Amino acid sequence: MKFFIDTANIAQIKEANDLGILDGVTTNPSLMAHEGITGVENIKKHYVEICKIVNGDVSAEVISTDFDNIIREGEELAKLHKNIVVKVPMIKDGIKAIKFLTSKGIKTNCTLVFSAGQAILAAKAGATYVSPFLGRLDDVGTAGDGVALVDQIVKIYRTYNYKTQVLAASIRSPEHIIKCAEVGADVVTSPLASILGLLKHPLTDVGLEKFLADYRKGNQ
Ligand code: E4P
Repeated sequence: MKFFIDTANIAQIKEANDLGILDGVTTNPSLMAHEGITGVENIKKHYVEICKIVNGDVSAEVISTDFDNIIREGEELAKLHKNIVVKVPMIKDGIKAIKFLTSKGIKTNCTLVFSAGQAILAAKAGATYVSPFLGRLDDVGTAGDGVALVDQIVKIYRTYNYKTQVLAASIRSPEHIIKCAEVGADVVTSPLASILGLLKHPLTDVGLEKFLADYRKGNQ
């Protein structure tokens, strides 16, 4: 399973990358705004900066919602760096744009996916990635709804041998990451805190403390 970090924060991207386990980055307009990155040229520069740090796919989201402008924006973003993946919303013109961009050899990530039906359309259009939003689905339903959707999409894609990779998004906890691994997600994109949360187990801390204390006793 590939690990992407879901942020536009350069320090956090560097920290995850330094761990040596990072395969890519996802961003969205809210994450860019959160970092105070505004204006088309600054936004483009920021994507290039991220691409220089991480050797892997970097999702850059279009803000247009009509076919012609999604294509125009997508082609501009794709020119920024070979690792840019154009993130396109799950809407009618988005699906048409994914089909077009795919035919031009441009990688795409179909975002804001909340149902298996939407995921089937993304795969049929040739999206490189499909992004089901686990956390947001859990928020409006019951805990576990998000993982159940990832499971359903993975099963459908395997049945039909769709090439689109399932990129589990809107991750809220280390447990979400583990559950996604269990159901066979191809990629999980998480905030840094959830990735770092995987390091933690109380018995590891207690065990390490004991090992070091025993060493110190015999090596005063
Ligand atoms: C997906 O790529 C999105 O950037 C992201 O995972 C959304 O997560 P949120 O629900 O925490 O905003």
